[in-house]
Amino acid sequence: MCGIVGYCGKQEALKVLLSGLQALEYRGYDSAGISLKSGNTIETVKTKGKVIDLITLIANSSINTQASIGIGHTRWATHGIPSSENAHPHFTERVSVVHNGIIENYRELEALLNQNGIKRKTQTDTEIIALLIDFFLKDKPFEEAFKEAVKLLKGSFAIAAISKDENFIMAAKHESPLVIGLSKNQTFIASDVSAMIEHTNSFIFLEDGDIAKISNEKIVIWDKNGKIVNRQPTTINWSKQTAQKGGYKHFMLKEIAEEDEAVRNTIQSRISEDGRILLDDEITIDEKFIKNIDRITIVACGTSFYAGLTAKPILEKYTGVKVDVEIGSEFRYYDYPYSKNNLFVAISQSGETADTKEPLRMAKNKGIKTLSIVNVKESAIARMADSCIYTLAGPEISVASTKAFVSQLAVLYMLAFYIGQKKGKDNTERSRILLSMPKLIKETFNATNQTTKELAETYHRYRNFLYLGRGLCYPLALEGALKLKEISYIHAEGYPAGEMKHGPIALIDENTPTVVIAHQKEPLYSKSLSNCEEIKSRDGKIILISDKPASIVDQTIEVPIVDYEFLPFIYVIPLQLFAYYMALFLGYDIDQPRNLAKSVTVE
Ligand code: F6R
Repeated sequence: MCGIVGYCGKQEALKVLLSGLQALEYRGYDSAGISLKSGNTIETVKTKGKVIDLITLIANSSINTQASIGIGHTRWATHGIPSSENAHPHFTERVSVVHNGIIENYRELEALLNQNGIKRKTQTDTEIIALLIDFFLKDKPFEEAFKEAVKLLKGSFAIAAISKDENFIMAAKHESPLVIGLSKNQTFIASDVSAMIEHTNSFIFLEDGDIAKISNEKIVIWDKNGKIVNRQPTTINWSKQTAQKGGYKHFMLKEIAEEDEAVRNTIQSRISEDGRILLDDEITIDEKFIKNIDRITIVACGTSFYAGLTAKPILEKYTGVKVDVEIGSEFRYYDYPYSKNNLFVAISQSGETADTKEPLRMAKNKGIKTLSIVNVKESAIARMADSCIYTLAGPEISVASTKAFVSQLAVLYMLAFYIGQKKGKDNTERSRILLSMPKLIKETFNATNQTTKELAETYHRYRNFLYLGRGLCYPLALEGALKLKEISYIHAEGYPAGEMKHGPIALIDENTPTVVIAHQKEPLYSKSLSNCEEIKSRDGKIILISDKPASIVDQTIEVPIVDYEFLPFIYVIPLQLFAYYMALFLGYDIDQPRNLAKSVTVE
């Protein structure tokens, strides 16, 4: 979703802002803009479209490229259509503002401004912030006017603002991420570290309620009570290279190819050679509680939700307790009946998903013990939970989530074995199999990359697909269908194979191919083949993903043989690759699919 970048230093701010905005493109956006403080004026250029369109516009403008203070933004429309007018920054003659989030009381604030003869020109909630600051500038300096305006805001926001008269940036954070990047004689601010990583490894993660004043020499941070605080910098050792494509055509393919490494990073320091799970340092919830857990409630969205659904039977088997897997956007409006020793688990790649964050907050308020499984360090969901297990998959830039999924699975499997271990069960043989997954994942990528590409060439003109699976293959059918929808815009439905006869079979004809996911484990394999017979007798085409080819189907994507319980790590790879190549043949913007955002920070 929206991305913020700001710079205050000695370099040309424009270059820093544009490269920062390019690094934030992966979050998903529909327009982009920058404001520079040039002498005693503010110059703004903004446009609907991509950062490249902004660069072209700037090249044809007379903007002062020497300016050394500025703010920039990529907008993902919430209030008002994607257009140049609604793009950020929003400005008056004296101030310019970029904002991520939603100002819930903007209509009330607008009424207040209207009473004073001030009208907004755009459809955005953000313009209200600029107008408010400007209004308070009547009798207050910029720093005070900014604080006064922020005091009135309700909702979620990360804001950065500049004034024509001051050489500093004011920033505020509430429920949307905002990070300060530290470097000698220059300071950066951005929605996440990827926008600043080429300049620094040292970051201050602002907390909810913080207001910051940022100049090239000094940073002052006030907490939610207005008290000056000293927030300690964190070092993030990502290289710029890590956040780049590394020779692949798209981040998505790079990230699928990195899944072996992602899972290795997730598990390597957390499983001993003899198969014991070493999570004591990370799960700080007291041991007595862990031993007595009587239910696990997992809340997540999208692919993270499917990771939870995939791991549910494994968690239930190895912990011996019931596991509920719930969709965040539903859970927050539902009075969930927690059990006595209920563990709440939030899963999120970005750690900022509003629909996952709110249920976590609600669970905490009820005194429920909470654990989060998150990829992005220091994100809100990571910090909010009682304990956090980082997936350590490395930066995931492509909007469609791939390597985060297998790393989330690895954490969930370790969690299952860990809780089992605490309850006195010996799962060491199982965790040793987990240790062998990175090698098998690599083999699977190599074995299926070319086949999936060839199949996509054959199938990319079809407009509807069905995905079927049983047991552990069922949630993968959902994830495979989601991947296809997201990036190739082809309609796809995932179903438990046994449900086919209860409705979806009506869809089958020669124009609706089915992807069947079936491990050789009996009786699931034979039952899935019976489904294939039913599809064939209705002229349906079938792609089978399996470790055991079958003559009845049109094509098999053969994967290496794997223990049934570990199949999700392996079978998901051809599903991701198939979606990737379908979108490639259709010529779509794979890393930034239309209408989607990487980090969904609004409800
Ligand atoms: C799918 C995808 C989304 C996310 C969902 C949750 O490829 O990217 O469905 O999985 O928005 O995001 P996180 O995991 O960041 O909470």
